[in-house]
Amino acid sequence: MELILIGFMGSGKTTVSQLLGQKYHLPVLDLDAEIVAQTGQSIPEIFAAGGEAHFRAIEHQVLAQVIDQPGILATGGGTPLREDNRALLKASHVPVVHLRATAAETKRRIGHDQNRPLAAKLDQTGLAKLKAARHAAYQACADFTIETNQLTPLEVAQAIEARLSLTVQP
Ligand code: S3P
Repeated sequence: MELILIGFMGSGKTTVSQLLGQKYHLPVLDLDAEIVAQTGQSIPEIFAAGGEAHFRAIEHQVLAQVIDQPGILATGGGTPLREDNRALLKASHVPVVHLRATAAETKRRIGHDQNRPLAAKLDQTGLAKLKAARHAAYQACADFTIETNQLTPLEVAQAIEARLSLTVQP
């Protein structure tokens, strides 16, 4: 990989990875989409079949498979929770960028998205607690964090470019 995006659900990982991938002609790999493609099941179906632990086991296997592929990787919101996943992200030796938004903004962006089983039943307070519980895991593997609250996805992409000093193409 050339770049890895991490962060809570709704932080913009997928959208921003696509913007950067288009601009720099890099393949974009979305870990959730890869899990769905490989299992033939939706994320809610995987959670329904075996709970979060089952999903995390699959997520780890797929991460280990794709980490050495070229391009930009958008991880799932819970990918950095496992220590072995954090080790894989770190060992890739590419910039790991943490996208972050407040709980209120996260709630506004994802609402009661039924495709996100862990968020579907949470109100803003629940989301804030889950985000806080994960903060250390994100910080442990991030090279830097972008606060996305006030930014459009394009502005987030530009903020990443500025931090990485990527060459801006016309
Ligand atoms: C999860 C986030 C989701 C998906 C799964 C679990 C999480 O990815 O991997 O529903 O634990 O935060 P997104 O961050 O792309 O929504």
